[in-house]
Amino acid sequence: MAKILLLHGPNLNMLGRREPEHYGRTGLDAIDARIAELAAAYGHTLESFQSNAEHELVERVQAAAGEAVDFIIVNPAAFTHTSVALRDAFLASGIPFIEVHLSNIHRREGFRHHSYFSDIAVGVIAGLGPQGYELAFHAAVEQLGNDDD
Ligand code: DQA
Repeated sequence: MAKILLLHGPNLNMLGRREPEHYGRTGLDAIDARIAELAAAYGHTLESFQSNAEHELVERVQAAAGEAVDFIIVNPAAFTHTSVALRDAFLASGIPFIEVHLSNIHRREGFRHHSYFSDIAVGVIAGLGPQGYELAFHAAVEQLGNDDD
């Protein structure tokens, strides 16, 4: 049994109501519920955490290292493009992670094309909407399986 953390950055609490042309109409609770369902089916524990505050996300990643979290699935949202602090928290934690974006950030404004996370992530999924989290979960399970080899 592995511990997986699903981490959501700023404004993702507004999913479903926020710019549906970019982010669709699925709310964050529905995404969390779907991934929790998958985690239970695979016998893994899942915790979801959303914050609009950079320091809370940094502290959650720092705490994850002490809690022996095995894998993180993260949508850093706007902090993707700005947060050296959150990047450093991931580096300090050493916990492998997959970066997810609902929208295809590479088809959008230039400032969204750069991510402070992609080069240190196991993988990146963008543009597939809520399905991206399911794909990331399956990839995480595969990665965790590889660890046991
Ligand atoms: C996002 C893309 C970011 O550029 C944006 O700031 C978000 C959401 C996405 O899921 O597509 O808040 O990470």
